[in-house]
Amino acid sequence: MKPPVTIAITGAAGNIGYAIAFRIAAGDLFGPDQPVNLNLIEIEPALPALEGVVMELRDCAFPLLHDIVATADLDTGFGNTDYVFLIGSRPRTKGMERQDLLSANGAIFKPQGQAISANASKDVRVLVVGNPANTNALIALHNSPNLQPHQITSMMRLDHNRAISMLAEKIGKHSTSVKNITVWGNHSITQFPDLQHCTVDGEAAYSLIDQDWYKHEYMGRVQKRGAEIIEARGASSAASAASAAIDHMRDWVLGSPQDSWVSMGLCSAGDYNVEKDLMYSFPVNCKNGNYETITNLELNEFSQEMIALSEQELIKERDMVKDLLS
Ligand code: NAD
Ligand code: LMR
Repeated sequence: MKPPVTIAITGAAGNIGYAIAFRIAAGDLFGPDQPVNLNLIEIEPALPALEGVVMELRDCAFPLLHDIVATADLDTGFGNTDYVFLIGSRPRTKGMERQDLLSANGAIFKPQGQAISANASKDVRVLVVGNPANTNALIALHNSPNLQPHQITSMMRLDHNRAISMLAEKIGKHSTSVKNITVWGNHSITQFPDLQHCTVDGEAAYSLIDQDWYKHEYMGRVQKRGAEIIEARGASSAASAASAAIDHMRDWVLGSPQDSWVSMGLCSAGDYNVEKDLMYSFPVNCKNGNYETITNLELNEFSQEMIALSEQELIKERDMVKDLLS
């Protein structure tokens, strides 16, 4: 057996936290030969509920689960962590856009960034899930002086998975037939689910679908899936979000399938004319523990317009939180 790795989860008593902790402890993140320690982080009022989560984790007698720390102290929670899931924050309710959460949630990510920077292992990998995820990740990044920009990412994998699944369903194929979808930009309604380079069982997706369906049904359905789930469940997505977070971190660390790419929110290097240093979703390949942006895609005029639209929204969000960007 390998030595255990330490994984921090904020918001661990919340809905996504409750879904992800058990899957990680069961080995779904790094496989059946990788023991894990879990550092579960909550705000003080949620510590009693978190204690219940700890009891349940212990009651599973997971073979891979070693130490559990449950705490509201950020220095303890992020101490020597190798992998961090920043989930804890308020979810939106019916009628809100994710951007409306900036004032409630943005401030959470400044002290968390500082505490990760001061206490986590030097190679820590951070995934921000709490909404609005891209701009919260930007706040965390600006407050983590000891981390390199590539160590902090934001979650677009749920949108990516939704885009794959909805296309597969339309064409009557399994989701594994779908390759090279990108969801560009922000985790918001300006995100751009891009089928220009997508193939289904080797055939160009563009040749299998109607452009009218693509632009007037499919794109909106992917962009608004979060709201559709809130409407149906009365609560935001949780198990699918936890699953996407596992997909994101697993691929980052162990590699993504090399016959396709995945979408990740990352610190822009200026590729595709996206302003440098915004947290923006690009197509990436993951290999040897790193991700690399696919930089050589030709983009038609429609794609370029959509990519710029989401960039503009992220610039606005960044300006809204400038006080938190040190
Ligand atoms: P939830 O309300 O069920 O749980 C949130 C938990 O976070 C609560 O237990 C709360 O006590 C805790 N929390 C709040 N502030 C905290 C802090 N400063 N430190 C630690 N913990 C804190 O919400 P949820 O359904 O688990 O969703 C969590 C977040 O994830 C929301 O912002 C939601 O919008 C977002 N989300 C993002 C995606 C994505 O694709 N990026 C998908 C689904 C949900
Ligand atoms: C989602 O996409 O399901 C989450 O971001 C929750 C939300 O507010 O839509």
